[in-house]
Amino acid sequence: MIFGVVLAGGIGSRMGNVDKPKQYLLIGDKPILIHTLEKFFIESEFEKVLVLCPKEWVAHTRNLIVKYLGDTERVVVLAGGETRNETIMNSIDYIEENYGLSEDTIIVTHDSVRPFVTQRIIKENIQYAKEFGACDTAVAATDTIVCSEDGKLISDIPKRQKMYQGQTPQTFQALKLKNLYYSLTDEEKNLLTDAAKIFVMKGEKVHIVEGEVFNIKITYPYDLRVAEALLKGGE
Ligand code: CTP
Repeated sequence: MIFGVVLAGGIGSRMGNVDKPKQYLLIGDKPILIHTLEKFFIESEFEKVLVLCPKEWVAHTRNLIVKYLGDTERVVVLAGGETRNETIMNSIDYIEENYGLSEDTIIVTHDSVRPFVTQRIIKENIQYAKEFGACDTAVAATDTIVCSEDGKLISDIPKRQKMYQGQTPQTFQALKLKNLYYSLTDEEKNLLTDAAKIFVMKGEKVHIVEGEVFNIKITYPYDLRVAEALLKGGE
């Protein structure tokens, strides 16, 4: 079974002084989260689409889905966790309790604030995860990436041809992800920036799915303006 898992459990602190988590801000005439869910609803391979949001926003999120998408059969709204990875673990717990976990259980995890994901990207994520067990969406870096240990001096300039920028979806065999996550020490968990790193840390292969430059993550107020422009351009 394959599940869409839309991660909306964050508060969007880098968006600054707004009255709601950024995934509920409007672009065009709809909340960002709804734009993202529309992309996931089209994919017929999903048994269900799970949406995980802050506990106190669960009822509001359900109402938004009814208002904008009508179809409530395909979607399950759940409370997220303290960290992004804990939010993913909540989705796996739900799937385990309601459907059981087998080798064939795949979760396509996606940031709720990346509304420009495409059907091609979602489909390739499903295909690669079936084939390889884990995959991550990324684009080749266009800028040279410089590393700094202290934020003041450059410590390394890696070969640009080897550098990619990570996006989402990230797609995994759910059972494997769960087992790997719970095998980590707290120290290792603190080093994690995303779920694909769990596989990488444990020496497991993660296949790259080619992303799109426009598959942006809305993080800062500037990104909202870019998102508005992308939406207008696409119409
Ligand atoms: N996310 C989540 N659960 C958390 C933290 C984040 O589901 N405990 C989700 C966010 O809602 C977002 C995605 O993970 O869709 C990417 O995270 P990020 O852009 O960092 O979102 P926030 O944590 O909300 O933003 P910030 O770091 O600015 O507070």
